[in-house]
Formats: sequence, structure tokens, C-alpha cells
Amino acid sequence: MPDRSGTAVINLDLEGPVISRHLYGHFAEHLGRCIYGGFWVGEDSPIPNEGGIRLDVVEALRRLNIPNLRWPGGCFADEYHWTDGIGPREGRPRMVNTHWGDVEENNHFGTHEFMALCDLLGADPYISGNVGSGTVKEMSDWVEYLTRPGDSPMARLRRENGRDEPWRVPFWGLGNETWGCGGNMRAEHYADLARQYATYCRDHGDNKLYRIAAGASDDDYAWTETLMKQISCFGCEATPKNFFQGLSFHYYTIAGTWEAKGSATEFGNEDYYRTLFNAQRVDRLISGHSAVMDVYDPGRKVGLVLDEWGTWWEVEPGTNPGFLHQQNTLRDALVAGLHFDVFHRHAERLFMANIAQTVNVLQAMVLTDDQERLILTPTYHVFEMNKGHQDARALDVHLRVPGAGRAVGDGELRTVSASASVRDDTLLISVSNLDAEDGLTLTFDLRGRAAGEHTARILTADRPQAHNTGEAPGTVAPRAFDGVRRTEDNGGLRVELPPHSFVTIEAPLS
Ligand code: AHR
Repeated sequence: MPDRSGTAVINLDLEGPVISRHLYGHFAEHLGRCIYGGFWVGEDSPIPNEGGIRLDVVEALRRLNIPNLRWPGGCFADEYHWTDGIGPREGRPRMVNTHWGDVEENNHFGTHEFMALCDLLGADPYISGNVGSGTVKEMSDWVEYLTRPGDSPMARLRRENGRDEPWRVPFWGLGNETWGCGGNMRAEHYADLARQYATYCRDHGDNKLYRIAAGASDDDYAWTETLMKQISCFGCEATPKNFFQGLSFHYYTIAGTWEAKGSATEFGNEDYYRTLFNAQRVDRLISGHSAVMDVYDPGRKVGLVLDEWGTWWEVEPGTNPGFLHQQNTLRDALVAGLHFDVFHRHAERLFMANIAQTVNVLQAMVLTDDQERLILTPTYHVFEMNKGHQDARALDVHLRVPGAGRAVGDGELRTVSASASVRDDTLLISVSNLDAEDGLTLTFDLRGRAAGEHTARILTADRPQAHNTGEAPGTVAPRAFDGVRRTEDNGGLRVELPPHSFVTIEAPLS
């Protein structure tokens, strides 16, 4: 099979919408070893920590410029009662985490610990409130506890627990997966609850909440429509009612079925292509939810929030099935790169996205092993290589690569993916060759502005199954890439992409 070649046209002077930095958001749930043993080791741990928060994890994540962190769930959020997680740790009530491993939760990591973590990371907190088993008063009190300045019952309680000033909490979730683990509700019922709960999540002092209604799974466009009907009407030109500012949906990538999702590390080319094909589906899903929202909100005031995405594999052999601990290969990194290209294209409607989950769970950035070593995953490197897209202006990339596709069932995986942006007169291009077997020569035809001296990095390995371990932490890591050359007419860049590779190219613009 011959290697492929093609072109990509970018008009550097036609800048599109801003790529919200919140598309690079994260998610930390009380699930397996994400919080306990991941972020939180406790103050008495021999592992270096600040107030119980593991410092090597924080340092690694700070290099990603994490914009926001969603907590405490997921499904856990709808059985979490925040008052159990404040006050002296030893006196905090315990509970059973029925969703995840049926293990006891000691509530040692609670509100103050989460806010301290956000401070250390430099990330905005995104708190997911309990609609499924909580009350309106409970949620309303939590908002008051966190954000109210001056004197009030909850502000006094916060002070008794050692925090004088209110925190800034920009993002607030009104439940999670309320069609499933968050209460098994019908869309109509939840739509009313979303309005009711949102009403009592007040803006205290200067704190302005961006309230996010719990949205659909996958392609449940009817759910999105029911929620949008609550704040606007079909074809209305008016600004939607301001009950919630964002509407979420969740989409996970698997290679098989939910009963047999596939192994994280042992897969053949067929599984590999199917995985990337399923990942590419996120483009159609965002288009579908956006189209529904456009009918009710043509001014695009309400943000679409994909607050759970990523790969979901069978757990690592020998680990608790309820802990969702999985390895992370070059394939996962390419899934992430592909998602970001799609996100950048939808920057006008998609306001936030949160990969599931940051540490030790599902498609994690970092893994900690039984010798307490910290491993950066291939996915981590994509987040790091792509961070220049945060808050940059999107540029359209017009791809023409004849024959670049692989059949998957009745469909086809497009094996080239790219996106580009400009920020502070710096061009950043991300490009993936998703083909597992063939190389690709891609010529970027750069029009409208002149690009100066470029630098490039590549993330690849000898096979898509490659991954990092405590013994071999650098098997998949970015390195400087010399496979990018100026074209003869000086007007573009020619890139030689090996199979299964992700490349970023940066250049100043004049
Ligand atoms: O991320 C793991 C779980 O997946 C979350 O708790 C839930 O919201 C989703 O089903």
C-alpha cells in the first residue's frame, strides 16, 4: 500500500471564533484511586504533599494549564452530601460509595480540600451539585457556604471551619446524568427541576455562577430539545431565559460494546480503526446537539458542555472492576488529538469539555503505581502539546487527501485530522496521521500572512499499543521533529507524518 500525500489550505488572515480554554477542562470523581491515592494522600503521608494534596501530581498538571476541574462526580455527585465533607476530618461522617466499588468513603477530601486543590492547580472549580438524592436547600446552602461574602449562616459556618473569604466558583452543575445514575428521570421532569434548582443557586456578592444543566447521553437530541424548550421556544429570536447558561452531554469512546469494551493495551488494527472511527463520531454528535440548540437559541447564548469524554476500556487485570483503572496507549493519545480538532471546529457553540478522568481513572493524564511513582500518559502529552490553542482564535483547515480513509463496518474513518489557531501572532497547527500502516506527506498551503521560522514536535512510537509504565516512563513522549520543511515557494510547510503520529507545529506570524 503506497504512502499518501495531500494538501491542507489555511487562510491565516481569516480568524474564527475563540477556542474557549475550558475545552481543555478536567474531571475528578470520588471513584477508585482518582481522589484517594491520586490527588489526596493525607497530611501524614511520606509522599510529599501540601495539606494532604500530592505535590508531584499537582506539578505535572500545572504544566497543562488546566482551566477548570469538575468535582465530586459523575454518578457520585448525586449521592454526595457536602456537609459530610466539612469540619475536623476525623469527625466527618462516613458513607458507602455505592456506584464505584461499594467501598467506604471517609469524606476526608471535601469542600475545603477541593478548593485548595484548585488553588494549587490554578484551575477554576466546577462543582457538580446533588439533584438525584439532595434537596434544593442543600444545594442552595452549598453555594452560599462557598461564595457568600459578609455575614450569613453559611458564611459563618465557613469561617468556623477556617476560611474567612468566600471562594470564586464560576461553574455549577445541576445534577449529573439525571436520565440514569442521577435519578433515572424523564427529560420533562428533570427540565422542571433544573429550573427550580437553578433558581436557588444564587449569585452572592461578585460571584457569577455559570449554571450547567445535566444533559444527554450520546445522540439523545430529544433530551437536549426538552431542556432547550424550558428556556426558549421553537424558532424564537429572543435571548433564552437565563435559568442555566450551559447544557451538557456525555460521550465515551469504546472499541466494542458496553459489555465488552475492549482491552486498553491488547488490540489489533481492526480495534484500533474502530476506536478512532467511534471517536470521530463526536463531530456528528456535537453538530446534532448544536443544530437543536440553534433552533431555540440562534444567538448562541447557551454553551454546549461535553463534561465527560474519553476512552473507556476493560479495567487493568487484577484491579477492582468498580475502580475503572485502565492503561493509556498511543491510541488514546490519538483519540484525544482527534477530539481536540473537532472541538476547535465547534468553538462557536462548544464552551467546555472535561476529559474523564484526570488521575488513575479512565483516560487519565497521570497514573500512580504501587510504588507511588507518577507516570505521564500519552494523553497527557497531547494536552501539553496542544495547550497553545487555549483561548486562541480558530483557523479553518481545508484538507484534501485523496484516499485517506479506512473502512470500518459500513462507514469510513478519515485517517487525517488537523486543526489550527492563532494567538498573539503565533500559529499553532495540530495534525494527526491516524493510519496505522501508511505514512503521509501533507503540504500546508499557508495563505494571507507570512509564517516565520517554525518549530515542531512529534508524539509517536513503534506501535499504537505503546504506553508508559513505572519502569519505562518515556516510551511515548514528545520529541523535537525535523520532518517539517518549507515548501520550495516558501509559502507553506511540508510535513512527513509517520503512521500513528501526532504532530504540533508552531510559527510566528507577521
Ligand atoms: O466517569 C465515570 C462515570 O461515567 C461518571 O460517574 C458518570 O457520570 C458516567 O456514566
